[in-house]
Amino acid sequence: MRRDIAELFELDPALTHLNHGAFGAVPRSVREAQDRARASVEGAPMRAFRDELPSALAAARESAAAFVGVPAASTALVRNVTEAVGVVLQGLGIGPGDDVVVSNHGYLTAGWSVEARGGTLRTATFGVDSGPRDVVTAFASAVTPRTRLVVIDQITSPTALVLPVAEVAAAVAPVPVLVDAAHVPGALPGLDVEALGVAFWSGNLHKWAYTPRAAATLWVAPEHREAMRPLVTSWSHGLPFPERFDLQGTVDHSSWVAVPDGLAAWAGLGGWPQVHRNADLLLRGAELVREALGTDSPLGGIPSAPCLRLVALPEGVATTTEDAEALWQRPHGRLRRASGRVRRSGLPPARRRALQRRVRLRPARGRAARGPRRLNPMRPMSAGCGKIDRPPERCPRGGPAP
Ligand SMILES: Cc1ncc(COP(=O)(O)O)c(C=O)c1O
Repeated sequence: MRRDIAELFELDPALTHLNHGAFGAVPRSVREAQDRARASVEGAPMRAFRDELPSALAAARESAAAFVGVPAASTALVRNVTEAVGVVLQGLGIGPGDDVVVSNHGYLTAGWSVEARGGTLRTATFGVDSGPRDVVTAFASAVTPRTRLVVIDQITSPTALVLPVAEVAAAVAPVPVLVDAAHVPGALPGLDVEALGVAFWSGNLHKWAYTPRAAATLWVAPEHREAMRPLVTSWSHGLPFPERFDLQGTVDHSSWVAVPDGLAAWAGLGGWPQVHRNADLLLRGAELVREALGTDSPLGGIPSAPCLRLVALPEGVATTTEDAEALWQRPHGRLRRASGRVRRSGLPPARRRALQRRVRLRPARGRAARGPRRLNPMRPMSAGCGKIDRPPERCPRGGPAP
């Protein structure tokens, strides 16, 4: 990563941060804004919670809603997409006897939330080499008379595909659709949430939009707003949507308060033009990796996300989840051990830092894994690079359902 960009973040210089998609990386300036929000609470807790918080949360909601292009009155702040899924399942009263459709590319915890409530999962199954029509058909055929909700990932986590959300919503109507858009804010340009024809749409701001962690939006279509309640009932009880999500007991609100700072940092780092530049870099990076591995693109006609890319690894090992996990752990463990040795070396700090910079991931030799892997660059990276992200059974060619 370019040094001037690296300095804007607080990442360990011994690491090459390749997986920005999983947990994001908070710029130093945003972490400092969050620190200031916390310090202001510590300075005067009563004033901060009673007088300042309501307007700070309203400003955060305004800024988050504007960022994803929807009115603030339609959008609640939640901690993350996982929480939003829980809110929707609770609001619809999903339980025993109800079917919920997910896909075999879906983020697993949404399905687990359905099961935890006693609902039954139905899986729309399609391969990474499918086309958009196959996706629509797969979702439509998974709907049963008992289906109460369809959950579709706008950008799939294990396979980095951009699914045809509007077409699926039209095909499964009148069943309401929840869009898991965890990877969308700040990563997918040209978004028009209200035109998708869905009931719910939730996106994380802490992945690609540089807010502190635990900041996400939940947009709800007008006819469902009344039924949506936060998972924790507290002093916002009785308020209309979305204000009723503001207070959920005494918690640290600083990640929400610093949302405008995170979104400003995203814009300051280049905004959409930078996203487009990164998408080009990623395309070239993925080609380089494919060339080096001697594999073809595993993809069909479904477009890939601008921020993530799937690369097939050569025929070899890692045909099970355990093998794939071991493959991921191998370089990771080596790096951790090397980094620890430098830390304990007793060398002067400057020398230690220089050595840490030289500790780098090297590709595992010998055994190669089989199956697609997701490449995932940090937004302002100056070179295409990636990581091995998910076990192969999450990268389905008609594989097991999550
Ligand atoms: C597609 C998708 N949905 C949901 C999530 C969950 O995000 P969070 O843990 O912030 O709720 C992730 C996380 O990576 C994801 O990739």
